[in-house]
Amino acid sequence: MTSSYRRLDSSCSTVLLEVPGQEPPSGLPRILYWGASLAENEQPENLARALNRPALQGGLDDAVPLTLSPSLANGFPGQPALIGHRKGRDALPGFHEVDLIETGNSWKIEAKDAKAGLSLDIVISLTGDSNVLTMTTRLSNIGATDYDLQWCAAATLPVPASYQEILSFNGRWCGEFQTARRKVPMGTLMRENRRGRTSHDSFPAMILGTEGFDEVCGAVLGAHLAWSGNHRVLHERLPDGTRQLQMGELLLPGEVILAPGETYSSPEVCFSFSEEGLGGLSHNFHSFLRSEVLPEQTRSPRPVTLNTWEAVYFDHAPEKLARLADLAAQVGVERFVLDDGWFKDRNSERTALGDWVLDEQKYPQGLDPLIAQVEGLGMEFGLWVEPEMVSPDSDLFRAHPDWILHLEALQEPTGRYQHVLNLTKPEAANYLFDSLDTLLKRYPIRYLKWDMNRDLSHQADGRSFVTGQQTKALYALIDRLRARHPLVEIESCASGGGRADFGILRRTHRIWASDSNDAHDRQSIQQGFSLFFPPEIMGAHIGPMHCHTTGRRLDLDFRAITAFFGHFGLEADLTQLTADELDKVANYIALHKDCRPILHGGKVLRQVLEGGRVLVFGAISNDRTEAMVSYAVLEQTRDGLTAPLRLTGLRSGATYRVRAINRPRDPGRRMKNMPDALFNGELLMSGSALASAGLQIPVLDPDTALLLQVSIAATKKQ
Ligand code: GLA
Repeated sequence: MTSSYRRLDSSCSTVLLEVPGQEPPSGLPRILYWGASLAENEQPENLARALNRPALQGGLDDAVPLTLSPSLANGFPGQPALIGHRKGRDALPGFHEVDLIETGNSWKIEAKDAKAGLSLDIVISLTGDSNVLTMTTRLSNIGATDYDLQWCAAATLPVPASYQEILSFNGRWCGEFQTARRKVPMGTLMRENRRGRTSHDSFPAMILGTEGFDEVCGAVLGAHLAWSGNHRVLHERLPDGTRQLQMGELLLPGEVILAPGETYSSPEVCFSFSEEGLGGLSHNFHSFLRSEVLPEQTRSPRPVTLNTWEAVYFDHAPEKLARLADLAAQVGVERFVLDDGWFKDRNSERTALGDWVLDEQKYPQGLDPLIAQVEGLGMEFGLWVEPEMVSPDSDLFRAHPDWILHLEALQEPTGRYQHVLNLTKPEAANYLFDSLDTLLKRYPIRYLKWDMNRDLSHQADGRSFVTGQQTKALYALIDRLRARHPLVEIESCASGGGRADFGILRRTHRIWASDSNDAHDRQSIQQGFSLFFPPEIMGAHIGPMHCHTTGRRLDLDFRAITAFFGHFGLEADLTQLTADELDKVANYIALHKDCRPILHGGKVLRQVLEGGRVLVFGAISNDRTEAMVSYAVLEQTRDGLTAPLRLTGLRSGATYRVRAINRPRDPGRRMKNMPDALFNGELLMSGSALASAGLQIPVLDPDTALLLQVSIAATKKQ
């Protein structure tokens, strides 16, 4: 059968779609090619001929293409993109009536099987500059009876055979965004998440790369599902070499039963590839988020934050908070966030969630005096809330025990001593809207830390699962509040980074990357986080010297340098800091403010050295004239001296001044002398020397870091 072809181009890539039949098309299309830009006059028919896969002996008589919705209907033996049935029928729709509508840089493929009573819409778009391909899928029941949908992949992408390694995510509370890398296995590598929120352990993404890919070398392909609920993410390799990536919402039994006329809409999958390793891939995703996803306010300087949690916990003594505000302003903080503990009877984690009114015993004159002080000191005021939750010991629960997600006749296990409100109940969602709206109208709150501290276990409304609807209801609640209070910024926190994804980021302004303020742990958490997310939305605080989540004792420079690159803040009892320590904090904050345009608008630079004992993190300005780089030693290195640090991405012909901001702790312990030039501002190097020769970093103790500032001193005369 002859096929027709469609083409989309971004600034650096081309997608070719092969559509069976001419006008009208007569079957589901397949992605023939997505890769580096092809010549304008490339003939897709020729490429199709060149890539033609012979049918193998022992198999079906015609080679089976991986269409946009692979299925046994056309002989595809692997994971289908659609699983569902109508009381045992219509499980294998053959979508032969196909329409393709092209608008701008998008295709909408409308496919129908009237006999099976199903229609399928797939939308594919390619963004111009960031080289991100997005896909969504909708399935409609156009039949006369209910259709039980069990799986509808949001996207299916063919994976070229050159990608030999796969990187997936794991993690835990206080240890998010850890990565595992392996050779692409035969069969399926699948990650499923049933926690009802994005999860700490299974960030919905995968990266594939050519053998040995690293931060700057190798071709890599990344995919992320923009969704804050259950998910399934899989890579499959079949014995004939066919490979696919599929991602979508994991549906619980009976969760989606489409009545006649109803439609299921999937979340969006975002794909990108780069031939410049993980650094290039991250840059694509960061640019995409910056230009297409993140709310407008994230483009303005991210205010340095003080969060009260690890300073006072539930002990909200007015004098202590006033003292914290004074010290915060003194060191240069721009936003003061009052964390958990401010509302009625909230004296421990066991009570009061749901009762969003002020604790008048702690705040007899309301929040006004504190807010007036905070604003008088030139800071914004922010407040912690956890709207989706209710404590069994709360007025709300006593009045509406039926407002929680629950499975009929089963007692739900509590998590952090709390239950989850059923946001799909309009009365519960309206109650939350009204409570938050009242607070935001009553007080000049510029920022909400929106927390969510447990997995969803009984993801049901009595007898049926509602997880996906709950996620959509959450999005709707946030959207409604933002429409009413457009200037209020929101942080997505779920016991740290348990709800970090592009779906929540369409409506929130930053993510609390982890409850661990331990800089040692944060180093790898932040490296993993930054693979998909840019630094300006990464909440990162200087925590207490004695880390509350791990018990480690870490010096101030290490804690400050680790938090420096993100949406910077403090979360420690400043009243316990010495005058020298406060000065040091103030200096880091001042430097951060100076460098903010580079840190939060530039290109991220990462390196994993010495098998992970050393992590390098940095940002280079878009005009490549400035860079800030941290070199963090997490464990004793193998050799006495590590290899010189090489920095790529600067202008090769330009001369840069390289200066260390801080000094190694007790250098005499390991070195008889120090490479002085790095510390006295006299080190001048060309961009090419920095990239090819590098610079020797002095020996650092484990759990310490060096912050380097690289600024252009002169450009080469033309
Ligand atoms: C969660 C958050 C913390 C803090 C506490 C308050 O654990 O992740 O940052 O806000 O709740 O109870």
